[in-house]
Amino acid sequence: MSNLERTLSIIKPDAVERNLENEIKKMFIENGFKIIKEKKIQIEKSEAETFYKVHETKPFYNDLCAYLSSGPIVVMILEKENAVLGNRDLMGATNPKDAKDGTIRKKYGISIDKNSVHGSDSVENAKIEIDFFFRD
Ligand code: CDP
Ligand code: MG
Repeated sequence: MSNLERTLSIIKPDAVERNLENEIKKMFIENGFKIIKEKKIQIEKSEAETFYKVHETKPFYNDLCAYLSSGPIVVMILEKENAVLGNRDLMGATNPKDAKDGTIRKKYGISIDKNSVHGSDSVENAKIEIDFFFRD
């Protein structure tokens, strides 16, 4: 059965800063993702706080929000069959040290906080996150 999905991907400041935007996009395309929309932006800390609200009780929340708003990011809507899980697989584990060969975080991640990419973790959150960045 066909199950075309969309998910939200972010190339985080550490990767944009190292000019990895094109290499990371190439990995998405080579893995069958279509980039439906994309924009390079810098967000306010308050916007990062809204985006990462599920983590508001975590000890890393403040640093995470400061980091995501610290420089330009590339936000993209990706489309593919089972895109949400497929993107999580391609990204690899949250901590690049645990990420498998062939994943974006294994290849480019620096540390658990500077792990180069974000990807929605469920179809429901993908809709919320896509709307957050592309509601216009
Ligand atoms: O990004 P992912 O969904 O894999 O992980 P998460 O558990 O939703 O955490 C969101 C982000 O918070 C991660 O991508 C990390 O950048 C950051 N984080 C951190 O800095 N320290 C941790 N112990 C856990 C997460
Ligand atoms: Mg997450």
